[in-house]
Amino acid sequence: MAFVVAVAQRKGGAGKSTVAANLAVALAAGAPVGLLDTDPQGTLARWHGLRPAGSARLSFEAVSGWRVPATVDRLRRDHAFVILDTPPHADTDSRVAMRAADLVLIPLQPSLPDLWAMEATLEVAAAERKPVALLLNRVPAQGNAAREVAAMLRKRDLPILPAHLGNRTAFAAAFGAGLGVTEHAPRTAAATEARALAEAIRREAS
Ligand SMILES: Nc1ncnc2c1ncn2[C@@H]1O[C@H](COP(=O)(O)OP(=O)(O)O)[C@@H](O)[C@H]1O
Ligand SMILES: [Mg+2]
Repeated sequence: MAFVVAVAQRKGGAGKSTVAANLAVALAAGAPVGLLDTDPQGTLARWHGLRPAGSARLSFEAVSGWRVPATVDRLRRDHAFVILDTPPHADTDSRVAMRAADLVLIPLQPSLPDLWAMEATLEVAAAERKPVALLLNRVPAQGNAAREVAAMLRKRDLPILPAHLGNRTAFAAAFGAGLGVTEHAPRTAAATEARALAEAIRREAS
């Protein structure tokens, strides 16, 4: 039986698709992974279309709306992990994805708009009785923003993953090549962060 992770956050541009792709690729180094694009924008479908022959095998599907639960159930059967990318704004669609998941992974940039948008996602996850994990994304190399946001989240007892992703061009470069950073640039800091994210999710699953 798979461990199903819905990557959700109401705000567009928070990094859902980037996180879903890189997490799926990093996990696929050790176990069969299903990746499901539930965003009708089809960002991950385009990414998957760019994947070169010989890159790590992922079962990829793109379905949205009412077809999501049955697809997740099917993918659960023969994968260790199923990762769902979800749309921004669309309450019903992201709720359906969260309902099908074992964990809601919420990427947020250390900024107030992302924090505000996170509240709505937390509310839906709570209504669906799903555990959440927060992932700081695009953490700038300089300054205290990430530390301040992490302290704010901890004060509220919100579960922050013991991993974060820096603001790194390697993520965009890999994405444009249809790859995860661990495939495209395995020796970079970005790849180290993606592997740490995969490890944190493996722990959540056990
Ligand atoms: N950790 C990161 N470092 C640098 N750029 C990032 C990072 N995460 C996301 N991005 C960039 O931010 C933009 C939005 O990311 P995306 O994953 O499409 O967000 P969402 O799916 O939440 O709308 C993209 O251009 C992507 O390359
Ligand atoms: Mg997206």
